Amino acid sequence: MALDAPPTLQGQHVLLCVCGGIAAYKAAELVRRLRDAGADVRVAMTENATRFVGTATFQALSGQPVRTSLWDAQAEASMGHIELARWAQRVLIAPATADMIAKLAHGFADDLITTLCLATDAPLTVAPAMNHRMWAHPATQANVATLRARGVRLLGPMDGPMAEPESGPGRLMEPDDIVAALAQVRA
Ligand SMILES: Cc1cc2nc3c(=O)[nH]c(=O)nc-3n(C[C@H](O)[C@H](O)[C@H](O)COP(=O)(O)O)c2cc1C
Repeated sequence: MALDAPPTLQGQHVLLCVCGGIAAYKAAELVRRLRDAGADVRVAMTENATRFVGTATFQALSGQPVRTSLWDAQAEASMGHIELARWAQRVLIAPATADMIAKLAHGFADDLITTLCLATDAPLTVAPAMNHRMWAHPATQANVATLRARGVRLLGPMDGPMAEPESGPGRLMEPDDIVAALAQVRA
């Protein structure tokens, strides 16, 4: 029996946006898997994400500088956020917090990642991770419905044990599955 071909993102420019949730540590593995699949990866983090994982981890794994702020004087001398938004062929937000999903649904542009998401033509894929009650909250569900209606692809969240410890839908989809799903996105 022939094996399925592995997902490939060969030569694709993937902008990985990491938000401030416990699952931020899994985004480090995600960078590895994206690169294994052939992607050229750049990482942007929210300021809150840096409370969970340091920029050095993502810089080492992606082989690229990591941006965390819109107000980086050196990068913005050449409008770096617009360059990054144009560079991206796929934008992946993983993990996506409830906060980020709300901001995206309402078109905010008050930090680097929300601004990049408005400034790019690349398809947006969002992999949420949060407490299951945050996920089930009507506000979050309404925001998710808004994003879906706009053509944003949602991956997960998955059901299972959480860090709290509690159980329910809210876990980040496994990195391999995110990579496989991203490879299917038409860029
Ligand atoms: C220990 C800790 C863990 C958190 N985990 C999550 C999480 O998994 N998902 C989530 O949506 N918010 C989580 N939060 C709340 C977010 O950090 C908070 O909403 C923050 O404003 C998100 O910022 P960002 O969206 O700019 O990254 C957590 C907060 C703390 C203190």
